[in-house]
Order: sequence, then C-alpha cells, then structure tokens
Amino acid sequence: MNYTFLPNTNIKISKICLGTMTFGNQNSETEAHSQLDYAFERGINFIDTAEMYPIGGNKHIFGSTERHIGTWLKKVSSQRENLVIATKIAGPNRGMDYIRKPLDFSKKNIHEAVNLSLKNLQTDYIDLYQMHWPERVMNMFGQRGLTKIDTNWQDNFFEVLTVYEELIKEGKIKHIGVSNENPYGVMRFLHESEKHNLPRIATIQNPYSLLNRLFEVGLSEICMREKVGLLAYSPLGFGVLSGKYLGEVKPTFRMAKFPQFTRYTGENTTKATQLYKELAEANGLTLVQLAEAFVHQQSFVTSTIIGATSLEQLKENIDAFEVILSDEILNEIDRIQALIPNPAP
Ligand SMILES: NC(=O)c1ccc[n+]([C@@H]2O[C@H](COP(=O)([O-])OP(=O)(O)OC[C@H]3O[C@@H](n4cnc5c(N)ncnc54)[C@H](OP(=O)(O)O)[C@@H]3O)[C@@H](O)[C@H]2O)c1
Repeated sequence: MNYTFLPNTNIKISKICLGTMTFGNQNSETEAHSQLDYAFERGINFIDTAEMYPIGGNKHIFGSTERHIGTWLKKVSSQRENLVIATKIAGPNRGMDYIRKPLDFSKKNIHEAVNLSLKNLQTDYIDLYQMHWPERVMNMFGQRGLTKIDTNWQDNFFEVLTVYEELIKEGKIKHIGVSNENPYGVMRFLHESEKHNLPRIATIQNPYSLLNRLFEVGLSEICMREKVGLLAYSPLGFGVLSGKYLGEVKPTFRMAKFPQFTRYTGENTTKATQLYKELAEANGLTLVQLAEAFVHQQSFVTSTIIGATSLEQLKENIDAFEVILSDEILNEIDRIQALIPNPAP
C-alpha cells in the first residue's frame, strides 16, 4: 500500500480510501465488517462515509452506513488512532427532509450533524469533516446551464468556517473538506480562512475517472497550487468501468437497482467504455486495472475512494493499484478522451 499525508497535516493516509456507501443497503452489517477487515489487512487506513448513506437511502435506513462502521470501530477500538475517518454533512436536498429540516449549514445544524455522526460512528472525533455538496445553487452532479444565481442564498463561507473552528477546539473534528465543489467555492473558502485565520480546507471530494475528467479544467491547478488534495470518487464510474454494463445487465448491478442514477448511462459513456476496454485488453490489462490505475497516477489525486459490493470486487480493485500505466497507454487514453470528452459528467 502506498501512503501520503492529508494535505497540510501530519496525518498519514493510504492512497486508497475505502468508500462505504453500499453498507446498510446493498451490503449487510456483516458484509460491511468483512470489507473493513479486509481493507485494513491490505493496509487501507482511510475510510469515507456520510451521514446520509447508504446509497438509495430513505428515512428508514439513513445513517446505517455510519452505524455499521461504528460497530466495527468498537471492535477494533485499539486501532482507532491508526484509522482516518472521514464523514460528511448533507447539503440542501428537497428529497432528504428526513435528515433534518431545513438542510443547511447553520451553526445549529452543523453541531447537530457532527454529534449524530460521532454517536453513529461510536468515536470521540472525526478526522475529516466534509460538506457533502454546496449549500448554494450551482452546477453539481453533472448539471449544466447555470444562467442565474440564487439571490436567496446568504453568503456564509466565513460563518461556516467559524463553526468548524469551534468544533476543532472542542476536539470533535480534526480537519475539514468540501465535496462536489467548484473553483468559486474552493477559492472562497481558502480566502476566508486566510483572511480570518480560520480552519483551511484540506481536501475536495469530487468525481474523477476515465469517464469524467472535468476536475482537470479549473480545479486541478487551484488544488495543486493551494495544496488541497483531491479525494477522487467513483473511479469506476459506478461500476461501468468494470465493463459489465457492456454485457447482460443483472438486477443486482447498482444502476439496475437504482435507475434514478443516470450519470453513467449515456450512449457516449458506453462508446467510451468500449474503447477503454479495447485499449486495456490490447495492453494485457483489465478495464478495472486501467481505470483505477489512471486515477491513482494523477499527481493532484491525494487518495482514490473505491467502492465494492463484494470481497471479490474489493480485492480486484485494490490489486489494480499495483499497475503503472506507461506514457504510451496514457497517450492513448488522452486520444480517446479527445474523441469522447467527459461522457459522464
Ligand atoms: N461525495 C460524493 O458525492 C460521492 C458520490 C459518490 C461516491 N462517493 C464516495 O466514493 C465511494 C466510491 O464511489 P463508487 O461506489 O461510486 O465507486 P465506483 O468504483 O465508481 O463504483 C463502485 C461500484 O461498482 C461496482 N463494482 C466495483 N468494483 C467492481 C468490479 N471489480 N467488478 C464489477 N463491478 C464492480 C459495484 O457496484 P454493483 O456491484 O452494485 O454493480 C460497486 O459498488 C463511495 O462509497 C463514497 O464513499 C462520494
């Protein structure tokens, strides 16, 4: 396992982070514990979760992902200081009122969310506390065409950071990060931190894969210059980059189970996946190896957040990080990207 540091900290993290959003829906508590045990045995010490998980959640199961991690953390409590736990507060979403109402980043809500995550996770502190998506109206999750800004939203970058400062002083959280953010949000957070000597975001958790390289446009430069690390999520594009959707789609596959997630279902996504599969095979690799190694090899990626619904998938995905792609293969990847740029935003 390769390790690095959470940017601007002395916290050592594995270059692979275990994503957990299947725990509590697609994976039982026992399966979740087996994945956590296996990942830890393989050297993964970095775990990502969120208050709203599992995927496909509803009012009956929300929080169960954190609770399954919590029962595992209790079992391995002597290892707590060797583990780095990241979780997230949910932003506004009309369908998620069951989490809290309104879902905004007010002082009261942030304190309430942190306390609930601490309880669910059965821990005294959260190593990395992230805002799952911005509070303001902006283009996220692949949206396009922002033509007017949301005049109801009150600029609160400063106020939010002061709440995190309190929570850091209380010892409940150690570091902060953003997710699904854009260049405007990252720069505003950095500016307010610098201006008022407030906590500084260490990471940004955004999608990044062979099917979505939008991070390279504006954020990669900001993050490298400002030392904010990318935690790249969905490196297999929800499983599409295993190649399995090119064949018979089984009802257990994520996008068959949750048809509301259409991000990786477009025609161009299929075409690009086929081309990447051919490239992988022509070089004696599997598509999973090509896809995971590509993300891992980017200098702006601090850690890649992988996901799996079985131990077989988890093993295959972790093993894929041993591959190093040659310049020739990287050039071929760029050729396909130029033909079909970012088919799955
Ligand atoms: N911040 C955010 O908004 C955000 C959004 C998404 C994810 N994340 C984080 O990133 C983590 C990983 O994201 P992700 O789950 O979307 O990652 P991903 O690697 O793109 O997709 C993982 C899914 O693909 C399928 N899969 C994985 N390995 C496979 C293999 N070797 N062969 C065949 N199928 C395979 C599995 O689903 P099936 O078996 O069901 O097909 C698995 O759950 C999440 O757990 C979460 O922590 C964050």
